Amino acid sequence: MKNAISGFSKKTKSEKIDWLIATYFHDNPTAREILSSYENSDQALQQLHDDFIENSISNFYLPLGVAPNFLINGENYVLPMVIEESSVVAAAAKTAKYWSERGGFKTTLLGEEKVGQIHFIFKGDSDKLSRFIDEKKNDFIQELKPLTQKMEQRGGGIKSIELRNKTADIPHYFQLHLCFLTKDAMGANFINSCLEQLADNVVAHIEQSEHFSVEEKKIEIVMSILSNYVPNCRVKAEVSCPIEALEKEDGLTQREFAEKFVRAVQIAKVEPYRAVTHNKGIMNGVDAVVLATGNDFRAVEAGVHAFAARDGQYRSLSSAYIKNDVFHFEIELPLAVGTVGGLTKLHPLVRWSLELLNNPNAAQLMELITVAGLAQNFAAVRSLVTSGIQKGHMKMHLLNILNQLNATTAQKEAALIHFKTVAVSHAAVHSFLGLDQ
Ligand code: MEV
Repeated sequence: MKNAISGFSKKTKSEKIDWLIATYFHDNPTAREILSSYENSDQALQQLHDDFIENSISNFYLPLGVAPNFLINGENYVLPMVIEESSVVAAAAKTAKYWSERGGFKTTLLGEEKVGQIHFIFKGDSDKLSRFIDEKKNDFIQELKPLTQKMEQRGGGIKSIELRNKTADIPHYFQLHLCFLTKDAMGANFINSCLEQLADNVVAHIEQSEHFSVEEKKIEIVMSILSNYVPNCRVKAEVSCPIEALEKEDGLTQREFAEKFVRAVQIAKVEPYRAVTHNKGIMNGVDAVVLATGNDFRAVEAGVHAFAARDGQYRSLSSAYIKNDVFHFEIELPLAVGTVGGLTKLHPLVRWSLELLNNPNAAQLMELITVAGLAQNFAAVRSLVTSGIQKGHMKMHLLNILNQLNATTAQKEAALIHFKTVAVSHAAVHSFLGLDQ
């Protein structure tokens, strides 16, 4: 067993690396070289990245790709995508082109409201508590002005405060459930600061009030935190076209394709095992744009999957149907993202990505991300119900295998031609490169 280390975070970066290399890599110089080869030679840029987190020892690259030709609400966009999965950007670009020739994507903003909660234990008369909160609500909002004023000037702030009695779930458990508008900020810091201050203020008011008994005054704040479940911060994205305007797929009429596509989405609506994979395909597009724009993909993931299970069963996030011979495909996604604050000003590539998107506000970014999800889902389901997923996947995977096997540029070019008609596998590429002998 290796020895534990104390005071690690206090060490310098090179001391941290020395200890890691000595303890876990038998002083192997290659292990050190790998870390240093990913260091940026621009020291200021490196320092900027080191300062994002604690104990940074190098950088971890993911490719930044772009998917052009997204026609969204009549405007053309190139979506920035950060992702490691080989086929995702290609699929997005292909789908963007497909729908740009059929009217493009349309989006609708369905809400921008975010939620925060104060969870507390109150052993007393719930009606009295409810009357008290109602009476004091305006005072509570006024007392938070130092925190909320700037946000209010931008059109945001606290929209509602509601007492929720949760004693049926846990004895004496209540919540203050707050709705916020945070404009172009994701709003986590703003919401959490408001909640923590409000919790202190509520306790102080109850302690000072003559209406509450000694026992009731022993209110216990368990925690104050935003919720990443944001069903009322939501966007709808859709595409549609007459069935006969759909592309002719191999072996299927346009109507057969449309019907098969609709059936595949219906299956994902009713079958959780399929729904999870179906939605994973949506998140391939969503997360890639969320990452490129410096947003919190864990928050988005948590909120989206909760939304997918909102009626108690995990279901497809997208829907497809045929009406009057028109094929419709749509999605609604809850997304808490920002275009100010967080990494948006700090990370040069995030700034670059936002500029590529014409510096959207948060609502516009939500719309673009939702389109990326719908496009990715269309690409996946289209492949699944026609050629199968492996054909496209393996074409992109071929390059990864060739790189792994150190193929030369000439070998790669020859392989790309050869494997147009031959199934890709690690063994087949190995043999094609003459590595079997
Ligand atoms: C792979 O990353 C995503 C898919 O599995 C999605 C799907 O099955 O719909 C292709």
